[in-house]
Amino acid sequence: MPNVRQTILRTLAIALMMFVAPSALGQEANYDESKVPQYTLPDPLVCSDGTAVKDAQTWRQKRRPEILKLFEEHVYGKAPGKPQSMTFMTTSVNRDALDGLATRKEVTVYFTGRQQDPNMDILLYLPNKASKPVPLFVGLNFGGNHSIHSDPGITITRSWMRNAKETANRATAASRGRGAGAWPVERILERGYGLATIYYGDIDPDFDDGFQNGVHPAFYKEGQTRPAANEWGSIAAWAWGLSRALDYFQTDSDIDWKKVAVMGHSRLGKTALWAGATDERFALVVSNNSGCGGAALSRRCYGETVARINKSFPHWFCDNFNQYNGKEADLPVDQHMLIALIAPRPVYVASAEKDRWADPKGEFLAAKHAGPVYQLLGAAPLPVEDMPPVGQAAMGTVAYHCRPGEHDVTNYDWDRYMDLADKHLKK
Ligand code: GCU
Repeated sequence: MPNVRQTILRTLAIALMMFVAPSALGQEANYDESKVPQYTLPDPLVCSDGTAVKDAQTWRQKRRPEILKLFEEHVYGKAPGKPQSMTFMTTSVNRDALDGLATRKEVTVYFTGRQQDPNMDILLYLPNKASKPVPLFVGLNFGGNHSIHSDPGITITRSWMRNAKETANRATAASRGRGAGAWPVERILERGYGLATIYYGDIDPDFDDGFQNGVHPAFYKEGQTRPAANEWGSIAAWAWGLSRALDYFQTDSDIDWKKVAVMGHSRLGKTALWAGATDERFALVVSNNSGCGGAALSRRCYGETVARINKSFPHWFCDNFNQYNGKEADLPVDQHMLIALIAPRPVYVASAEKDRWADPKGEFLAAKHAGPVYQLLGAAPLPVEDMPPVGQAAMGTVAYHCRPGEHDVTNYDWDRYMDLADKHLKK
């Protein structure tokens, strides 16, 4: 048994690896705008054979599939489709949750239909006041479903939990509501939206174990022991899990599945973007401080870089992404094209002023350079040329803000996401 001191040291070391910026691990991150390399972004509206995309049909039939494939092959990896044998089981319903404000449901998704295989628990809050079916935000959480609110009715996750070494990596009741700051449940319900959330570790525990745990092994071909170089890493697996949640929403008559916004913070913001790109059923996409491999342009090499992220988190992307370590200019895509894959659906990219590691300017520029695709499809690009002042939202169908403060999700962020959703999902 490790003693308390060892446990604390270990936890600190992991926290440093996971969340603290970078210099401790070798090469310094660049935060100097004058040292951003000269770069040319690939044009989302020119096909690989040189054809210019001048109409929506060419975008849809030729260029969009091409870009999606490039991201699958070189960045996130290809995931399997919807499993035929998947089943859903409602495990609890309480129509009088949160002092009557909401109906709380819990639903287990058995990906293969077999209970012994990986499965995920969806926690749902639906506003009692709103008429059904309701529009909904869905997002993965970092700390277990029970961490998003102190509501004692939420089942405590049994899945592997990073910061619970003392209890053999299992969460305890002490972590109820621990992440509530990022989940203003009542605020969301009061504005007429439902909220669904899933612990990301249900889908794939967030550490590099050669893909022996999580959903990957359940989908290996005969004799396969890890994903091929162009097959799904953890981000693609988490995004795949979000699509499986949407499969469930399609069966729940209280939810308007055509009005589902997918939201995520940080690595889960990268995941939300990839979910929105791969699954066009998501009606709106929110990237909160997603940074490298999310909304930030890779070619700027500002803050976290491709080499850095692949080194610290070898399981997030597909193995092919390693080819671009220190070679961002060779990437056949950049992250503005990920945002373009969401067009013409609304997308919100949000940064935080002090979150330099995630490169706020690079996030803004990716949102901006997705604009021509939105325009081609008749949707509004960002309404500004330059980064709006801190704390001010710029809202077309593509929206952006940089709020004051740190890497986090705040009520200000949620309020703006709901402003965008009001315009598009409440029509
Ligand atoms: C690390 C990582 C980022 C990631 C973040 C998070 O800082 O380098 O890429 O977005 O963790 O998910 O919290």
